[in-house]
Amino acid sequence: MLWITLSLLIGLLILVLFYARRRQKNEPPLDKGFLPWLGHALEFGKDAAKFLRRMKEKHGDIFTVRVAGKYVTVLLDPNSFDSVVNDTVCLDFSRIRNQLIKTVFGLQLPGTSPTSERKWMERHFQGLNLFKLSASMNVHLQNLLLSNNTNSSLSEWRQDGLFDLCYSLLFRAGYLTLFDSRDDPAAVYREFRKFDELLSKLARNLLKQEERKTARSCQERLWELLSPGWLSEELDSWQQSYYRFLQEERIDAEMQNRALLLQLWTTQCNAGPAAFWLLGYLLTHPEAMKAVKSEIRGLSTLQDTPLQHPSISLLEAHCTPVLDSVLSETLRLTAAVMISREVVQDKILHMADGQEYLLRRGDRVCLFPLLSPQMDPQIHQEPQIFKYNRFLNEDMTVKDHFYKNGKRLKYYTMPWGAGKNSCVGKEFAVAAIKQFVFLLLTHLDLELCDPEAKVPPVNSSRYGFGILQPDGDLQVRYRLRRTRHEM
Ligand code: HEM
Repeated sequence: MLWITLSLLIGLLILVLFYARRRQKNEPPLDKGFLPWLGHALEFGKDAAKFLRRMKEKHGDIFTVRVAGKYVTVLLDPNSFDSVVNDTVCLDFSRIRNQLIKTVFGLQLPGTSPTSERKWMERHFQGLNLFKLSASMNVHLQNLLLSNNTNSSLSEWRQDGLFDLCYSLLFRAGYLTLFDSRDDPAAVYREFRKFDELLSKLARNLLKQEERKTARSCQERLWELLSPGWLSEELDSWQQSYYRFLQEERIDAEMQNRALLLQLWTTQCNAGPAAFWLLGYLLTHPEAMKAVKSEIRGLSTLQDTPLQHPSISLLEAHCTPVLDSVLSETLRLTAAVMISREVVQDKILHMADGQEYLLRRGDRVCLFPLLSPQMDPQIHQEPQIFKYNRFLNEDMTVKDHFYKNGKRLKYYTMPWGAGKNSCVGKEFAVAAIKQFVFLLLTHLDLELCDPEAKVPPVNSSRYGFGILQPDGDLQVRYRLRRTRHEM
């Protein structure tokens, strides 16, 4: 009996060794990690940036790692990104996305082609529709800020965490702009935040039993809050139009509701955290705050409108080079998306330095722009430091000449992705963040509770999920300003 068991075990070992993956000629360096099947999954899930930095030091700009049974080739040379972001034949965007939305949102959209969904989104977030949505966003932001602050007691100092202040205001205004239910945006926000906090663990299947229950109950509550029973009669609203799109794609009622939660997340999860970092950096860098305020004071909007109603128009939003540079610098430091594609056909990857690597069908390829270009010391001097004018030339034009190894870079920062699947909501998000910052700086006296405070560290479990979130918060005090002269 012992002999049979031993022979079986040896046979199994031989099989594993025989079929185990080895690096083939022309393939990137392979690092499987010690744990069978899991590979580097634990280190990756804990702090992906730290892990990938370690791998880059060990292997260079391209390597393949094993993560939970998958082989992922990580490419960290921005001069070679085009061969990934523009390849829709050998590389596929939608399979990984579909898996993610099934795991996180319990959503399956059979029959819906990714191109038709993207086209639908583009129609609604560009041109005249973008203009209408941004105008509506501006009105909701003003109403929320001023309705909370109209009576005299609210002209007194209040204290809050800056992250919650930014996320809550932008989320509620965004929700009122796009979704029909007007009943209780604050309740939707509270439920969404609970869900959002569990999201990275949910996506990586790392939830404990209790957390799994919480995530499930948040999902159910949000499905209920977003469901058609709550819809208004407004026929040309964004939500109604999205419903019609899903119906035309023959998506059943249950999946329609789940799709709404996905849309809530896609449209609302990044702008609030981005506004937090932007204001956090301004409050902790007085020279940057001074430059932004001086630029805002010069805008024509402020010249002839009463304090209660100044708003930044789309046109003016394009004439704020200092604020634009501050936003780019904020996103350089905090946009941590992972651009992942599935290799659906063997592919030769041509690197900018002339090297060629074979990518195997069934593997994944991943760019992590936060590490390079965004935090690459060869591209950006002192990359850890916030420099408000990093993206500004002396003549106040946009600085877009950045180099690595003497070669000018097309991708020197990449918060919105690139190529065929780059962000559809970029203009909407930029307008919303700028309107929000403008509104807060013109309407509020806003200051740090502790003048020596620094921006908090990032929550390292969120690398890969868009804009980072802080580990902790920055306490601020604020009150409604009576005149704008002190700004
Ligand atoms: C600060 C805010 C935002 C950031 C940093 C951001 C970032 C990104 C990035 C990096 C991608 C590309 C992902 C990839 O290539 O794998 C992306 C895709 C996308 N984003 Fe955004 N986004 C933001 C806000 C928004 C908003 C407000 C909307 C909707 C109005 C939106 C809608 C989308 C959609 C629909 C896609 C998928 C595009 C496709 O299917 O081809 N995003 N976003």
